Amino acid sequence: MSILPRQGGGKITVPELLQRKNLAADSPNQNKITCLTAYDYPTAHLMDEAGVDVVLVGDSVGMVMLGYDSTLPLTLEEALHHTKAVRRGVRRALLVADMPYGSYHGDLNESLRNAMRFVKEAGAEAVKIEGGERRLELISRLTEAEIPVMGHVGLTPQSVNALGGYRVQGKTPAAAEQVLRDARAVEAAGAFAIVLEAMPRELAAEITRSVSIPTIGIGAGPDCDGQVLVLHDMLGLTFQEPPKFARRYANIGETISQAVRQYCEDVQSGQFPTDAESYHTPASVKSRKAIAIAR
Ligand code: KIV
Repeated sequence: MSILPRQGGGKITVPELLQRKNLAADSPNQNKITCLTAYDYPTAHLMDEAGVDVVLVGDSVGMVMLGYDSTLPLTLEEALHHTKAVRRGVRRALLVADMPYGSYHGDLNESLRNAMRFVKEAGAEAVKIEGGERRLELISRLTEAEIPVMGHVGLTPQSVNALGGYRVQGKTPAAAEQVLRDARAVEAAGAFAIVLEAMPRELAAEITRSVSIPTIGIGAGPDCDGQVLVLHDMLGLTFQEPPKFARRYANIGETISQAVRQYCEDVQSGQFPTDAESYHTPASVKSRKAIAIAR
């Protein structure tokens, strides 16, 4: 191979993330993995430059960008479209694409073909799939085909109908045991990391201790190897109260509303645009016109 694209210079890779798990034993906080969702070119560009380790094109795109009621309606083509846009904005971070509901639930060969589209057409460096023990065979097939897989256990939003809502998982001893088995299955199948969503911090801590791959928590407490948030929750860009675990770092929604209100006011009061914000006829054209009129 004569060209090594996007490597070196701090590029985050799958082996580097795996290594962080080992380094975390000595200095846990320095080696925490940071992950955020992105769905378009400008936000991907900004967060990559700000130094996030993993950019996830989450299937939450269906809810926060496309206005669906759940992640279930998101299509493969929509997910690919957003992943391609994010790819153009990311240079350093690892780019992971969420496989949408229905794109990996049937035939294994078709699931593999769908996963390959994220890599070949959209430039993803890994895919994320929801589910534990049930996904053993699929995760093995994908990793055999050189596609790094991020697992996702605990609350898996694509199972909302089966779970009966978006609830914290693993609260009883039997339920906690099942989440632990799911995490171990994902690890055994060859995944390079696991998202732990909405579970007691004690359970997430136990899983983090008992698997050799990094755990990335969302609503799973501070003891995971990394954290992920939905960007729109942390920026105040959703139209509801953020979940308990999502800290709001900015209120961009309010900033946008204020800017739009001000713009409308300025247009209607004649304060926008000003003369300085207008183009002018060149002086030479003006003087030619004056001569023509005088004649
Ligand atoms: O779709 C998504 O945004 C996710 C994260 C919450 C992990 O899966």
